Amino acid sequence: MNCRSSEITAESLYLRRREFLRSAAAATAGLALAPAVGCEAEPQAKPVSGPGKELADVVPGPFSSDEQPTPWKKASSYNNFYEFGTDKDDPSRRAGSLRTEPWSVAIEGEVSKPGLVPLEDLLRGRVLEERIYRLRCVEAWSMVIPWVGIPLGEALRAFEPTSQAKFVEFTTLYDPEQMPGQRRRVLAWPYVEGLRIDEAMHPLSLLAVGMYGRVLPNQNGAPIRLVVPWKYGFKSIKSIVRIRFTREQPINSWNRSAPQEYGFYANVNPEVDHPRWSQARERRIGDFRKRPTLPFNGYAEQVAGLYRGMDLRAQF
Ligand code: MTE
Repeated sequence: MNCRSSEITAESLYLRRREFLRSAAAATAGLALAPAVGCEAEPQAKPVSGPGKELADVVPGPFSSDEQPTPWKKASSYNNFYEFGTDKDDPSRRAGSLRTEPWSVAIEGEVSKPGLVPLEDLLRGRVLEERIYRLRCVEAWSMVIPWVGIPLGEALRAFEPTSQAKFVEFTTLYDPEQMPGQRRRVLAWPYVEGLRIDEAMHPLSLLAVGMYGRVLPNQNGAPIRLVVPWKYGFKSIKSIVRIRFTREQPINSWNRSAPQEYGFYANVNPEVDHPRWSQARERRIGDFRKRPTLPFNGYAEQVAGLYRGMDLRAQF
């Protein structure tokens, strides 16, 4: 691909140099989640404006952590959302180009009531709950975030899954105009995630539309995302446009991209090392010292039973 010199600004040169240095470092150190470097025009950057609208009628939900939430500023500016770039500050700098209204979610597959459901209808009549959940990223950092949403299982049951529905597949919007990071083949787009049906129906699984009492900022997955607190953050897919009930286990994006490193289950497991680093400890964003990582991210009491009899080293 050719680079036209007129497209190269001082900033993009600086950014590209930074990306080159990072990829070179990644190649040497063997870092995961490392992007491919392409020679193309810098995508349009559109910063996100301040915190979103306050949500009314939010009630405290179950399972909340009593830990101190991560400051809003960190949770909304240190993000993974590769559709807007691979640096942690790319999503907050660029995700302003995502149009979140109107928004609909296609319900497909093994259900009695498929259809294209406007977000308002998905939420209508449902109580918004605030649940303070930990999010633990595979890169060994974590945050504590007061999410606002509805239980995923309740939302899914309304579409009447058939007895053949064994898994649920979630897909993010694909639109390189709005999501300029999709112009680079860092991942096979669109981003896809999956859960086993019993995981999806588990009362801890949340469909989030807000955080810190406000509408989700674009960089955190507006207008609707998953939060599965006992799994690594990559399962918590953002900006969902399709939910498909399937008979077969879906192939999730990270598993497709690096199957030896990222499995389907992705349960937080301090005893199973990532092929290139230990998972035993984590750094809470804002903390200086690392802390031990808890099995199932501290939610073992609620979810360990889902995996009874499974070899969680083989099914990671
Ligand atoms: N969803 C989409 N569509 N694209 C992504 O790149 N990154 C995942 C997950 N959901 C990602 C995504 C990863 S790796 C993490 S750790 C969490 O989002 C981060 O969520 P946060 O930015 O709200 O903290």
